[in-house]
Amino acid sequence: AKITYIEASGTEHVVDVETGLTVMEGAIRNLVPGIDADCGGACACATCHVYVDPDWMARTGGRESMEDSMLDFASDVRDNSRLSCQIKVNEALDGLVVRLPEQQG
Ligand code: FES
Repeated sequence: AKITYIEASGTEHVVDVETGLTVMEGAIRNLVPGIDADCGGACACATCHVYVDPDWMARTGGRESMEDSMLDFASDVRDNSRLSCQIKVNEALDGLVVRLPEQQG
């Protein structure tokens, strides 16, 4: 699926992410800056925080409770905040747009 990552500065990265990977892994593998993912995707660090474009929130689904508590450690959490390691990519997410927070971790 094609995913657009938009840095806080406005720089866009459009990359193809394989089904089965997470939005976090898609960023790391394609060297998109702004996602640190210190815990490697275990939902235990909150440094993979992204803002899901409001148009896509219905399709990415909601936060799990563990994800919700980890987000307490992220800064500037908004309604559309997600941990990108908890969003699995599939073809229904083709065209997804996520924005990266100003600072991570
Ligand atoms: Fe650590 Fe997502 S990579 S919470």
